[in-house]
Amino acid sequence: MFSSTVRHIDQIAYLKSLGIPVWVPRDFQPPEFEQPCAEEKAEIAQSAAEPQAEAVPEIRLSESPAETAKLDWPALIGMVGNCTACGLHTGRTQVVFGVGNQDADIMVIGEAPGADEDLQGEPFVGRAGQLLNEMLKAIHYPRESVYIANIVKCRPPENRNPQHDEALHCAPYLHRQIELVAPRAILAVGKVAAQNLLQTDLPIGKMRGNQYHYAALNIPVIVTYHPAYLLRSPKEKAKAWQDLKLLRSLLV
Ligand code: URA
Ligand code: SF4
Repeated sequence: MFSSTVRHIDQIAYLKSLGIPVWVPRDFQPPEFEQPCAEEKAEIAQSAAEPQAEAVPEIRLSESPAETAKLDWPALIGMVGNCTACGLHTGRTQVVFGVGNQDADIMVIGEAPGADEDLQGEPFVGRAGQLLNEMLKAIHYPRESVYIANIVKCRPPENRNPQHDEALHCAPYLHRQIELVAPRAILAVGKVAAQNLLQTDLPIGKMRGNQYHYAALNIPVIVTYHPAYLLRSPKEKAKAWQDLKLLRSLLV
């Protein structure tokens, strides 16, 4: 215990001497979204020392089509509720529009509704949603304080990934949601959200740890692992915690 603390302090001094910013948890500790153990902290320190991934070229999304460009919340909700623009409408119980604080600092963007979300009409209400709630609480932005939406608003069959054309058809709705909320930062959870928002094919492991922008509105985007993945690979929570702190650092 003592020696690992000493090793950790040594690492911090080493990273500081290289001019690398070091995260030292202070007053904000993730309550149930577990703190990384000493081993994971060492891994974080090591990954901070690794060269940053290359910047993603920022490709501008096509502008929101005229039909959604000026819509207010009720009109947008009405339009999405009746949408049949892509094949996903045939399998839905209901549209999962989005939920939360319309003046939020943080907008969380996931992939697509799953079975629970399709039944309840709200994003991230299943097990992954529980973990997302813990993650947000850990940086003192509880679920109610943020706005949550998905790349597509209707559940894909068998929870498959949304296809390119489905995401494209749904993008104007998400774009208008982002424009209306005007968050200070976006948290993209998972590969599908990150790749669609940033219009890139980069793997998520390359994207996380960096700051990007949603080019169409010039809003900072932080990428992290999807909570469903973190449930399967709890070791990666240490990296997600690092991403969350990066997100939080944009808001202080
Ligand atoms: N996974 C997502 O990406 N979105 C949800 O709303 C639920 C699970
Ligand atoms: Fe419309 Fe989006 Fe649902 Fe497709 S996923 S039907 S574009 S709301």
